[in-house]
Amino acid sequence: MTLETTRLILRPWEDSDAEALYKYASHSDVGPAAGWAVHTSVENSREIIRNILSAPETYAAILKEVGHPVGCIGLMPWKAVQTEAELGYWIGVPYWGRGLITEAAREILRRGFEDLHLEKIWCNIYEENVRSYRVQEKCGFKFHHTTEKVPFPLDDTFRTVNTFCISREDWLAKR
Ligand SMILES: CC(C)(COP(=O)(O)OP(=O)(O)OC[C@H]1O[C@@H](n2cnc3c(N)ncnc32)[C@H](O)[C@@H]1OP(=O)(O)O)[C@@H](O)C(=O)NCCC(=O)NCCS
Repeated sequence: MTLETTRLILRPWEDSDAEALYKYASHSDVGPAAGWAVHTSVENSREIIRNILSAPETYAAILKEVGHPVGCIGLMPWKAVQTEAELGYWIGVPYWGRGLITEAAREILRRGFEDLHLEKIWCNIYEENVRSYRVQEKCGFKFHHTTEKVPFPLDDTFRTVNTFCISREDWLAKR
């Protein structure tokens, strides 16, 4: 499945994307903000493409003007509820603040509600991630609840997570 927006192609990750993935996912401001570890080598990125990013509905975000992946966006199963999914996304630091993830997220919401017939899409955000709150706001998500003291996967600390949600009705009303 390939999706397209004005500036992006969203398509499954390929082995040959490993170098581009490493370039952006090796920056310490990217993965940890979303709870995953900084990539350590091109080979590590290739393994992650094979083992993690190969999941259904996980897309490499190819910026048309550069011709290679600069980020990732996708829908993951949510608590085994067939009609609900969790949105996840990131983009390489050089491309922050250009509205690219908002553009990609709008297309993934369309994919989720229109093609996959989802009823709700959720997003979990570490409390301090103000950029991601703004993406949520622009896409029409609403704050749902806060969970305190969530174990952080990369060390033995705990974080506060804010959970946002958009329903099919909210999405239809915002179109
Ligand atoms: C969060 C992230 C995906 C946003 O991607 P992006 O393409 O830069 O997002 P957008 O440009 O669509 O929107 C970012 C918004 O944050 C705003 N922003 C940037 N820095 C900010 C700051 N310090 N405080 C508040 N808002 C800020 C931008 O102004 C923009 O809002 P605007 O359109 O109203 O100007 C990107 O920063 C990222 O990959 N971060 C690391 C990984 C991550 O956090 N993933 C999400 C996990 S939930």
